[in-house]
Amino acid sequence: MEDFKIVNEDNQRDQFKSRLGFVLATAGSAIGLGNIWRFPYIVGENGGGAFLFVYMGILLLMGVSLLLVEFVIGRNGGTNAIDSYAKISKNAKWVGWLGFVSAFIFLSYYSVVGGWTLYFTLSSFTGSIMKVAPADMGGFFGGFISSPIAPLVFHFVFMILAVGIILGGVSGGIEKYSKILMPGLFVMMILLVIRAVTLDGAWEGIKWYLTPDFSKITTKTIASAMGQVFFTLSVGMSGMVTYSSYLSKKENLPAIATQVAIADTLIAVVAGFMIFPVLFASGVEPGQGVGLVFITLPIVFSQMPFGGLFSFLFFALLVVAALTSAISILEMPVTYLIEKKNMKRKQATFFVGGISYVLGVAVSLGFGVWSSFKVFGLDIFGMFDYFGSNISLPLGALGAAVTIGWMWNKKDALNELTNNGEHSAGLANIWFNIVKYLIPIAIIIVFLLNIGIL
Ligand code: TRP
Repeated sequence: MEDFKIVNEDNQRDQFKSRLGFVLATAGSAIGLGNIWRFPYIVGENGGGAFLFVYMGILLLMGVSLLLVEFVIGRNGGTNAIDSYAKISKNAKWVGWLGFVSAFIFLSYYSVVGGWTLYFTLSSFTGSIMKVAPADMGGFFGGFISSPIAPLVFHFVFMILAVGIILGGVSGGIEKYSKILMPGLFVMMILLVIRAVTLDGAWEGIKWYLTPDFSKITTKTIASAMGQVFFTLSVGMSGMVTYSSYLSKKENLPAIATQVAIADTLIAVVAGFMIFPVLFASGVEPGQGVGLVFITLPIVFSQMPFGGLFSFLFFALLVVAALTSAISILEMPVTYLIEKKNMKRKQATFFVGGISYVLGVAVSLGFGVWSSFKVFGLDIFGMFDYFGSNISLPLGALGAAVTIGWMWNKKDALNELTNNGEHSAGLANIWFNIVKYLIPIAIIIVFLLNIGIL
């Protein structure tokens, strides 16, 4: 794992030395704010069980296959994402470019929310969060994110941490520790679930989360579920194309994709059990939006022994999870700039981090002084997230699937998937048909439904 420094200072390409290094980096990319912050509030806004049902369906039918699509394109390419697409077909290059542009957008607001988690870590450490009465948590959170300066400082610190990791090489630090820290996060979550489900009234929340009310499934539910699946698995932006371009030819791609998808789903589903019982026990509305986790969890902490300590540990681990995702967004454009624009790793990283920081400033101010600036009823965060998750990721995923299904020849694709027939050969045909037909058709239908044409 020493050398997940990827392209080093002399612009030479490295490979992941160990399989575990890649699995951790990929799982680290997938598991992040998308599971613990975004998933619950999207479930909350889309009516609970009905959403969960659609989400699971899309995840199983499309999610795992799409992870494999990106792995196959990346490992076959062995270079930055744009050239990896070009290697298959000149006409596929745009998919890489779309990911390149979108990376700035994703990183900008990801870092803003990462900054919020840093702030909550710090407030837990100083104890100030434990002094807030449960009923005032919404105000505490809203007051923080809408203030003009403080969130920008934490956004800055988060971005610097991400930049620092990408510069310093993931190896010595975060990759090594994530072996301990990610299971740690999971254990913390289980403790929180135990506390949450034993609150008075918790059962209503569990029922709401697990009982699908099919009458609540609308085109918006389906589009949001699809966006969330792509977001949480980090597919559609060529981030996984970039990571897998550093992967050796020996690794078993289907096994890795399955493991990553299972771990990612487990964390998201458990996050739901940690949050929804609390809503119903404390009368907080599920459709809270971006503040959901930040408002409900401190309520749980306030009713636990050593709540302040738990709060600190939880948010600190969430920061780590967010960082391992943020670096995967950052690495995508950075690899391209190093390989094609002859930039040094340092220059490229500061360039991408800097632009994303400035974009993030707009996102952050959009929660406060610029909150009246709206387009189609969306604030700046809403616009970025909508463009990213509901337009760019589906389009990128469509492009990636079409690249494999229609622009490449099947034999090469299957050889890359199965390491020339060594692994999973029996499933390869099913995968190919899903990629060639099901995924493109499903994405196009959801897209047309979503813009109201179907
Ligand atoms: N999957 C990450 C999360 O759930 C976020 C993420 C990493 C991402 N890379 C991405 C989202 C690429 C979209 C595209 O927190």
